[in-house]
Amino acid sequence: MNAIGRSSLQYPFTIQCVGFYFASWRCFMDALVRLIMVLIPEDLRSWVIKTLMVPQFGPYHKEGSFLWNHLELAMKTIEDVGEGVIDARIPKAVKEIMVEAVNCVGIEFCQKYVLLHDFDKGSRLSLKLSSCSPLRTVEGKKGTMLQVSWDEWVTMFTGTAGEELDRFCKENGIIQISYYHQNPTDDLPGKHGACTAERFKDREDISEVLKYIVATHENSKDYSSVDIGRAFKLFNCDDLVAGLILVCNYADQMASLRENGEPDLTNFINFSFSFLALRKFELLCGQLGKHELFLSVHEKEMKKRGPYTTYGSRTRNSVYDGLTPFSQRLDLPNHLDELKLADMVRSLKNAKDAFREETVQEACDRIIKACQLQLRSKEDVCAVLSGIALPEEVLMMVVEDMGNLGILSQETGRGLGRYNKDVRKALKKLK
Ligand SMILES: [Fe+2]
Repeated sequence: MNAIGRSSLQYPFTIQCVGFYFASWRCFMDALVRLIMVLIPEDLRSWVIKTLMVPQFGPYHKEGSFLWNHLELAMKTIEDVGEGVIDARIPKAVKEIMVEAVNCVGIEFCQKYVLLHDFDKGSRLSLKLSSCSPLRTVEGKKGTMLQVSWDEWVTMFTGTAGEELDRFCKENGIIQISYYHQNPTDDLPGKHGACTAERFKDREDISEVLKYIVATHENSKDYSSVDIGRAFKLFNCDDLVAGLILVCNYADQMASLRENGEPDLTNFINFSFSFLALRKFELLCGQLGKHELFLSVHEKEMKKRGPYTTYGSRTRNSVYDGLTPFSQRLDLPNHLDELKLADMVRSLKNAKDAFREETVQEACDRIIKACQLQLRSKEDVCAVLSGIALPEEVLMMVVEDMGNLGILSQETGRGLGRYNKDVRKALKKLK
């Protein structure tokens, strides 16, 4: 086994012969079951086979009535990614990382991920009920959501066809089925992905990377804009793992069709731009000689969770605007307002549109220009301060600072005392 848990075994059966093109769902189910027998550890197989019939109902899973429909689309999507077929709205640099990730880990790893990623949907079934649902009074439970275990579900619903599920949901006032237990009864997390990752945490036959991408396969849903801060928490890893996170989130979204029969990639696109913005932000910090601004956030995240690496360090910096790695510092002008520069870098990190319209170089140029200090002559400084009765020695400190630094030093600032506000206001008049 290598770092990502890919076995060198040649499986007798791969996705190419699964036959997504089989007309009959039975053929596809047979193919899935055969895949499960090959790829999934023996003690998990019967449960994974059961999960194929996890019900799907409501606005988010119009691809079909059962989980196998979702898995089918997810597998097809990952296969497409491996061949470079990805939605055109995703940035080119992200596409490259995604394609490379699939081809690097191999199709069996991806298939194993798909089969396991929704392992706990069956144990996290949650029924959203209408106001007149007869299930509102089941066992005295009240409220709009009814948490059910798998055993309870298979007692309630015994059908196997989509029409039967539709009828059952209508008769019982079920508006939507989701996969989150607010009050889990098994000491595992309420979210189905996190639940599976925790359930598998001590298993050595499932790689750490696979557990991580299972735990994070729904993260992209939360990105309503570019969010470098959030991306910091997730992409604390090399580009191979980052590529897998992106692919698995993408496959999950592509395999969740809405009412119009199309996936909604809006938040995934923000997610992909957030990943790219994070990498660009790292470059920008290095270019501005503010590496520590990047690292301070990075280290904070590292303390919460160890970094994930697979094949070593990141090697693909060149894809981010074609710039050199972040150890390359620009030749910066001598007189920069360092505090303002740090502020501008921080606000870029928090910007909801960071690097959407701006390259790293353009952002560097903009920040440098705004922070560049001009040295001022004694005459100019004295002219704007002429209306303030500054003590002579304080005036000289101001003149010296503005002539040598282009800004007031901390020491001079402290010496200004009650003149502080007036002096700073007057200095702003310098053109
Ligand atoms: Fe999924």
